[in-house]
Amino acid sequence: MSTAGPRGSFLRWVTQDWAVNAGYLDSRLVLLWFRAAQWAARSWGLAGRAFAAFYSLFTSLFIGVELPPALEVGPRLRIYHPHGIVLNPGVRLGADCVLRQHVTIGNIVRRDGTEKGVASAGDGVEFGAGCVVVGGLHVGSHARVAALALVLRDVPEWGVAVGNPAEVVRVDHPAHRRPEAVAG
Ligand SMILES: CC(C)(COP(=O)(O)OP(=O)(O)OC[C@H]1O[C@@H](n2cnc3c(N)ncnc32)[C@H](O)[C@@H]1OP(=O)(O)O)[C@@H](O)C(=O)NCCC(=O)NCCS
Repeated sequence: MSTAGPRGSFLRWVTQDWAVNAGYLDSRLVLLWFRAAQWAARSWGLAGRAFAAFYSLFTSLFIGVELPPALEVGPRLRIYHPHGIVLNPGVRLGADCVLRQHVTIGNIVRRDGTEKGVASAGDGVEFGAGCVVVGGLHVGSHARVAALALVLRDVPEWGVAVGNPAEVVRVDHPAHRRPEAVAG
């Protein structure tokens, strides 16, 4: 899983995000803003952290999106309709993931105040509109989380998680498909 954030070549990260979000100027601008805040927070010391705090406040208040600079998000993140997206700062996403509107990836706090942790996802994971992924679980690479799914357990690689609570209805791993389906 390739995560990290824009250290070193900030321009390379932004160029890759822009390339995969072609046609979505709003998503490109949100990602530019997010990567800039990440880069500043990690490279500019106190001034960078102040910039990142301003970014977080502005983005939450005026865009309605919470992508905290502390996130570990791999390259080429795609966002379709950047509205109402809330990710816990502890979330880790691999490369080539997709977020849609109203995706929530967060924590569960028990009555006694203890926490269940925050999810991580591998590469190429697709989150459908309005899905909620909570607790310290892992969504395997290339899994697809359905629109409006509530994910409370691990999702295997190439799994399709659907419903509330989400069940894995299929595993699409290429090795499990018939040869003609792979070719087609
Ligand atoms: C989950 C998803 C990726 C699965 O797509 P797929 O691989 O083509 O799978 P299928 O359409 O064959 O669905 C598999 C089963 O899950 C069901 N299903 C699919 N999406 C569902 C959803 N969001 N909620 C409940 N059930 C769902 C299907 O009805 C099907 O059930 P069946 O086997 O009993 O007929 C897709 O349905 C989805 O939700 N994508 C997100 C799309 C989105 O957010 N769009 C917003 C655009 S603005």
